[in-house]
Amino acid sequence: MTMHDPIRSPDKPSATPSLIERAADMYDFRKGLNQPGPQLPDAPAAKTPAPAAPAAAPVAARPAAPVRPRAAFTLPVAAIDRDQMRERAFIVPDGPVTSISEEFRIIKRRLLASIQAEANAGLGPAAQRILICSAQPNEGKTYSAINLALSIATEQDHDVLLVDADFAKPSILSSLGIEGQRGLMDALADPDVAVEDCIIPTDIRGLSVLPAGRQTNTDSEYLASARTLEVLARLTEGHPGRIVIFDSPPLLAASPAATLAQHVGHALLVVRADVTSERALKDALGLISDCNQIQLLLNGVKFSPSGRSFGSYYGYGE
Ligand SMILES: Nc1ncnc2c1ncn2[C@@H]1O[C@H](COP(=O)(O)OP(=O)(O)O)[C@@H](O)[C@H]1O
Ligand SMILES: [Mg+2]
Repeated sequence: MTMHDPIRSPDKPSATPSLIERAADMYDFRKGLNQPGPQLPDAPAAKTPAPAAPAAAPVAARPAAPVRPRAAFTLPVAAIDRDQMRERAFIVPDGPVTSISEEFRIIKRRLLASIQAEANAGLGPAAQRILICSAQPNEGKTYSAINLALSIATEQDHDVLLVDADFAKPSILSSLGIEGQRGLMDALADPDVAVEDCIIPTDIRGLSVLPAGRQTNTDSEYLASARTLEVLARLTEGHPGRIVIFDSPPLLAASPAATLAQHVGHALLVVRADVTSERALKDALGLISDCNQIQLLLNGVKFSPSGRSFGSYYGYGE
């Protein structure tokens, strides 16, 4: 797995193109979108940045705090099944360093730097929100959202709220082996439900989860309502270091992801190697083109020209 900006200036060729750059050239995103494209940061000079890259600063300037304060939650702490995490190739807290944890560390570093830049540019709370999306089902959105959340949760200056925004087919709770009841859609649909009261703290330090909540036929309408702004703002109120990660339904199958893209500072578009078609990728990009920062995550790559085992995540030790 690797991450790259979808649009690369043709006058800045890379000496050793990564796999995702090849994909970018092949797909010609700018032409596909038929527009100048979203603003994207310059690609980093080093194509395979060292895992020990300098840590990005927390989202908002605040005094250095050696101990991260525990957020106050109203729900009891849920225990996440570590064996199930291993089975599903998730990053296990305090587990050994694996190719998965290293890959997500690289992805995390770039995202945190981008989040910091957006916060500095005055984007507001949206800078703290990341949408994980893809064109079709089974391309690795939930897998990537959980692993990215687990990776960011290890940061001293950040905590993560993982939101299941795949309202029709929620799978975050079952993937982590925990149970929940009310969630984001309940808070959007019912003004008497405080979204904070739906957040489940977990026994993984720095990780909490917001379930999808009730199923409705009008989830996109609720998401597009004025209340969404208020509910989303409450997710980070008083938490300047919190990163909110939204797992979402396929862009080409349901509208919530495109609606959510308008509320987030960053969209990570998962592309499944050898599966996602060029047409689907272009259409998906077109649906989130309002988002300030769009980055691609290539999932399932089996080899790398640099010799790194990018994306070989179907088990440890590959
Ligand atoms: N890189 C990967 N390594 C291991 N399993 C993966 C990887 N990407 C996806 N999967 C598995 O593929 C299936 C579909 O992925 P999922 O994240 O649920 O897709 P989506 O959320 O896009 O529908 C899941 O069983 C998931 O665990
Ligand atoms: Mg999913």
